[in-house]
Amino acid sequence: MQANTKQSTTDRAGATPAPRARAAALRLAVLASGRGSNLQALMDARELGRLPVEFVLVAGDKAEAQALRRAEAAGIPTLALDPRGYPHRAGFDRDLFGHIGAHAPDLIVLAGYMRVIDAAALGAWNGRIINIHPSLLPRYRGLHTHRRALAAGDSRHGSSLHYVTAELDGGPLIGQAEIAIHAGDTPTTLAERLLPYEHRLLVAGVGLIASGRLSLGDAGVCLDGQVLQEPLRLVGDQLQVAAAA
Ligand code: GRF
Repeated sequence: MQANTKQSTTDRAGATPAPRARAAALRLAVLASGRGSNLQALMDARELGRLPVEFVLVAGDKAEAQALRRAEAAGIPTLALDPRGYPHRAGFDRDLFGHIGAHAPDLIVLAGYMRVIDAAALGAWNGRIINIHPSLLPRYRGLHTHRRALAAGDSRHGSSLHYVTAELDGGPLIGQAEIAIHAGDTPTTLAERLLPYEHRLLVAGVGLIASGRLSLGDAGVCLDGQVLQEPLRLVGDQLQVAAAA
């Protein structure tokens, strides 16, 4: 295990309140396994003063992940925990989420985190953990989403932001960004074209949570106190209520 806490943070493990109108910056922990372009989009938005968040930790399962280098360069505490040191997923996730909890985030963002998370570790974070997934859920949960959308002959593809539950890519949807599939698209071109939309979707969704406008309640995802009947739609840089059919 490599633990890097360049900035000192107070150990305040335990429950944090559900999102509400906030005076202070939203305390954000990000989990990432790879490139970290979604993390970068969040960091850039914060730098530009467009996202009232404080990064309390960037953690992952791969010490070599570029996401961790990006966080280090920005002076954000990082943690790389190697799953190979654990015989079972449950033990790894218990440790990982224990470390995360010690940084007392208000929200955990899975941004290209490539592991299924044990249900027991998720329990305490219900309504406070979200994931960005590159498909129009419920279509194409899991891997190789671009390839599968092309193989199915779809004309539209996209990305989804959702609350995380124990069901893989199955939690309540917050919002979606949609793009057209072009003739001649390959999984690579499709992924490249989708990525900037995905970044905007993530930033917009975290922004709504940070401003206290969006949360998960017993009846579903709520925006400004109203339960969403459909996922929000990304229009430009904003997430909007889908127009009635
Ligand atoms: C993104 O496409 C995300 O939707 C998926 O993994 C990819 C991560 O990209 N879960 P990056 O590491 O944020 O650049």
